[in-house]
Amino acid sequence: MELRQLGANGPQVSAIGLGTTKFGRNEGVKYPTSFALPSEAALRELLAVARENGINLLDTAPAYGSAEERIGRLTEGDGGWVIATKAGETFADGRSHFDFSPAAIADSIENSRRRLRRDVLDLVLLHSSGDDLPILNDSGAMETLRELKARGRIGAIGASTKTVEGGLRAVEICDVVMVTLNASDRTQLPVIRAAERAGKGVLIKKPLDSGHQAAADNTLGELVGEQGVTAVIVGTINHRHIVENCAAVERART
Ligand SMILES: NC(=O)c1ccc[n+]([C@@H]2O[C@H](COP(=O)([O-])OP(=O)(O)OC[C@H]3O[C@@H](n4cnc5c(N)ncnc54)[C@H](OP(=O)(O)O)[C@@H]3O)[C@@H](O)[C@H]2O)c1
Repeated sequence: MELRQLGANGPQVSAIGLGTTKFGRNEGVKYPTSFALPSEAALRELLAVARENGINLLDTAPAYGSAEERIGRLTEGDGGWVIATKAGETFADGRSHFDFSPAAIADSIENSRRRLRRDVLDLVLLHSSGDDLPILNDSGAMETLRELKARGRIGAIGASTKTVEGGLRAVEICDVVMVTLNASDRTQLPVIRAAERAGKGVLIKKPLDSGHQAAADNTLGELVGEQGVTAVIVGTINHRHIVENCAAVERART
């Protein structure tokens, strides 16, 4: 699996990353079929298969139920994983709650450090509700991330955005931006191109439209090959799918 640098000074990450929504949350999600949360043994096996196939990047969030806690238990002491997490959204009682105030962001990061069992979080992204510009410009969240980065609590900072305007703003002020890109949604391409020009990292979310698109052989290969993309985050709890997805990318890239 190809390794790429995440932004100007970031870590080397695999071109395919593992999305972990399904590790810890199975309500209020948009996947086509319902599923049970994987057992601890199944998750351990999944992470081992991911590593064997060259994946070193995990994407998680406080809003993904028990995902951070489970990842923390299963990766403790293993410095080989680069872990991206988020701040600003939590999920409780069947619904999302958003708070981008400096105090909430600082608390969220302390909680993520504890749950992930890491002194330094590799990457923290603001988990946008869709109000990208007010979150980035007016909430104080970015300033808090910057301060925590300066204090060594965070390696890199970024935003997972939903609008082109928000994505472009994130490119200006962050190390990394996370945007949607898949066969039926290419609206964020201007953000990806701007990030490339600025030397910023780009993570892709929902590459298979949250499972609504078949993982056809060349889809992931094309996304990984898209100019400006650093890594494509595929959500799966099926280890056969990890093997298939990595093999498809290898075939497309050679
Ligand atoms: N920041 C944000 O606001 C945000 C929003 C959405 C997502 N994300 C991140 O991006 C990650 C990816 O997005 P996503 O999970 O929504 O969707 P996705 O990666 O587009 O699709 C995941 C779905 O595709 C299925 N799948 C994966 N590989 C497959 C294969 N080879 N064959 C058939 N089905 C396959 C998975 O099912 P199986 O489990 O059966 O493989 C899962 O249901 C998330 O996990 C999360 O980390 C971030």
